[in-house]
Amino acid sequence: MRQPVVMGNWKLNGSKEMVASLIKGLDAELNGVSGVTVAIAPPHLYLDLAEQVLDKAANKIVLGAQNVDLKDSGAFTGDVSPVMLKDFGATHIIIGHSERREYHNESDEYVAEKFAVLKAHGLVPVLCIGETEAQNEAGETEAVCARQIDAVIKTQGVEALDGAIIAYEPIWAIGTGKAATAEDAQRIHASIRAHIAKESADVAEKVIIQYGGSVKPENAASYFAQPDIDGALVGGASLDAVSFAAIAKAAAEANA
Ligand code: 13P
Repeated sequence: MRQPVVMGNWKLNGSKEMVASLIKGLDAELNGVSGVTVAIAPPHLYLDLAEQVLDKAANKIVLGAQNVDLKDSGAFTGDVSPVMLKDFGATHIIIGHSERREYHNESDEYVAEKFAVLKAHGLVPVLCIGETEAQNEAGETEAVCARQIDAVIKTQGVEALDGAIIAYEPIWAIGTGKAATAEDAQRIHASIRAHIAKESADVAEKVIIQYGGSVKPENAASYFAQPDIDGALVGGASLDAVSFAAIAKAAAEANA
């Protein structure tokens, strides 16, 4: 049985005050909740503070980050290394988010390199995949997702996906309020799992596939009721402790 993972991607949002109060609020909301892994990905600059506040929290909230660069150290101005992320206790690292693919020209191959770097450091890649609206309308969704996953499988083998997380995020659903229906998301998740199963049924059965894109407390339960949706990667709604906890609780209930 796969334990759902609900992760908050804070994107470029936060301040010292917000980080402390959001984590404390979330911790209070999560009392008594089990059966779900809850993770947060603050901006890099706030990982130190987040780690300190999480240390004092009553509940286990996993610290993550929104990106990683390839090198451990050296002359790479502005980069953040996997070693540094580890140093601050961040374990679940988002890579390949569509905002990075779009605004930073990150290719499938480059994202796959990041995946390999994370694995080499014992970190958990949260590999974002998903199609544009035009690709969706052209019926290319499954092929786009397969291609994005194949960049990892071809370079590292299907076993690399063991212990990793895949986040299916249709780009047209991100921050738009225009979420995929639970049925459509389930169909794509099943196709992603089937694609991986062609290489290894065992890895496919175990891999966590999150849905992301306008997940809110109101629609969360409908996703988690689907057999191949194992949690969510949440943007906007993760910036509010009550809303994000409600999504985590919905995942826990679906898993009870
Ligand atoms: P929203 O939940 O704001 O649509 O963002 C989704 C997302 O991009 C999470 O990574």
